Amino acid sequence: MDISVLPLSADKMKAKFKDESHLGFGKIFTDRMFLAEWSAGKGWHDARVKPYEPFVLDPACLVFHYAQEIFEGLKAYKWDDGRVALFRPEMNARRFQTSAERLCMPEVPEDLFLNGIEKLVSLERDWIPTAPGTSLYIRPAMIAVEPVLGVKSSDHYYFYVIASPVGAYYAAGFNPVSILVEDKYVRATPGGTGEAKTGGNYASSMKAGQDAKKKGFDQVLWLDGRERRYIEEVGAMNMFFVYGNHIVTAPLAGSILAGVTRDSVLKLATTLGCTVEERPIDVNELMADFKSGKVTEAFGSGTAAVITPVGKLCYKDECVSVGQGVGRLTQRLYDTLTGIQTGKIADTFDWVRFV
Ligand code: COI
Repeated sequence: MDISVLPLSADKMKAKFKDESHLGFGKIFTDRMFLAEWSAGKGWHDARVKPYEPFVLDPACLVFHYAQEIFEGLKAYKWDDGRVALFRPEMNARRFQTSAERLCMPEVPEDLFLNGIEKLVSLERDWIPTAPGTSLYIRPAMIAVEPVLGVKSSDHYYFYVIASPVGAYYAAGFNPVSILVEDKYVRATPGGTGEAKTGGNYASSMKAGQDAKKKGFDQVLWLDGRERRYIEEVGAMNMFFVYGNHIVTAPLAGSILAGVTRDSVLKLATTLGCTVEERPIDVNELMADFKSGKVTEAFGSGTAAVITPVGKLCYKDECVSVGQGVGRLTQRLYDTLTGIQTGKIADTFDWVRFV
């Protein structure tokens, strides 16, 4: 499908950030956005890059009432030689399709997803920061815009992409975060929407997150919805536990998100001489393994969070911690992953796609 480019007038252009060390996460947006529409009987149409501006939407739109919405997150990096690289965007395209299927939304063809992002990013390349730890975060989303109050899947959707120059997701930067294992609320249950990237999963996680913040924690770690015993994910991150040279993470059994960074960590760790295992992780055994010193490092992975070391984990009334600062393997994985993303380390996996 052809993508048209609408003019951007000088008064719609924003002042660019001056200091890349204070970008934070997702607070600044570029000058343009991508938008395509899907209508029943017509399919996808009117793909265009246009000035970034608010939507004017009917208050009855389905997305506002029944949360028919999905999204993705990926990043663009500007290499020293001037090329702009996306990291494994095909995986985001496929996950977007899986999420759409679960939410009864139309499938966005992979080439529309990728071409829309590439067109936007190539026009916005001057917005890509280059300081270490920074990138252009890309947020594709799809929303149901039919104005009707009956519960049904929409007959009209917007698929849009916005972009934001970002630094670290957590205010602490690449420093250990503290995590509370949530034993009251659950994020997902078997058969639910846990593996879809849909706004409702995040909305329903906020109460636990807020309670944990009040107790001084950065994030909550979810347990499975059936037995409340097995480690699932953190919401913005998949979790990994390091036992010497052996890395363990929860399996993709339907209720956690299939993270692009999670998959990359599993593949990278093998090439760094580690063994990897995807298996159910019993929280009681995990706590015991922390206490006996078997767990040597813990970290989360995600597009926004990259690789984030976990320093402290609390479950019920007990807290355990690992080492001081950032673990050796966590650091190696972070350096290797970000090295590939930014062109400092050879991409032997063929993960990078140039814009
Ligand atoms: C991401 O890592 O891209 C996410 O979507 C996590 C979050 C910011 C919701």
